[in-house]
Amino acid sequence: MKTIVITGASSGIGKATAKYFANQGWQVAATMRNPAQETELTALENVKLFQLDVTDSQSIAKAYEAIRMEYWTVDVLLNNAGYALFGPLELSMEDQIRQAYDTLLLGTTLVTRQFIPMLRENGGGSIISLSSVGGV
Ligand SMILES: NC(=O)c1ccc[n+]([C@@H]2O[C@H](COP(=O)([O-])OP(=O)(O)OC[C@H]3O[C@@H](n4cnc5c(N)ncnc54)[C@H](OP(=O)(O)O)[C@@H]3O)[C@@H](O)[C@H]2O)c1
Repeated sequence: MKTIVITGASSGIGKATAKYFANQGWQVAATMRNPAQETELTALENVKLFQLDVTDSQSIAKAYEAIRMEYWTVDVLLNNAGYALFGPLELSMEDQIRQAYDTLLLGTTLVTRQFIPMLRENGGGSIISLSSVGGV
């Protein structure tokens, strides 16, 4: 059975993807900031929840260890966690800008760095990172 790790699986595209892959018979490691609040995914047999905040290195490392203990290896990492910071740049606060970079750029990079050795050990796999047409 193949395994996918999804960040930001508590809502939106992440949650929809978790449900889709679970229905396709995959094992789904659905990671999120607050798994205790999740009720829908807990009802799915082949979905397991893991706490992971992409802005917190310790949380990334802990989730990685827990996922490794559970599945030993993974086939796909989906970097989905993120959000859009809307508004004119000159009106954005510095902490808002830093938070956006921490989540979207650094978060994606650190999660990917954490999982690459596992994919390499597995002899391959896919890393998918969601972006935006806005980035084009
Ligand atoms: N929907 C669109 O039209 C669109 C367009 C362009 C790009 N995208 C990108 O696609 C991805 C999914 O978007 P969506 O529309 O499904 O948005 P969404 O429903 O708001 O879902 C975003 C998810 O990211 C999680 N998240 C935010 N910060 C996080 C952090 N520090 N650590 C872990 N998880 C975090 C949220 O978790 P919490 O529940 O904890 O907040 C939530 O589960 C995002 O990266 C977004 O930027 C979406």
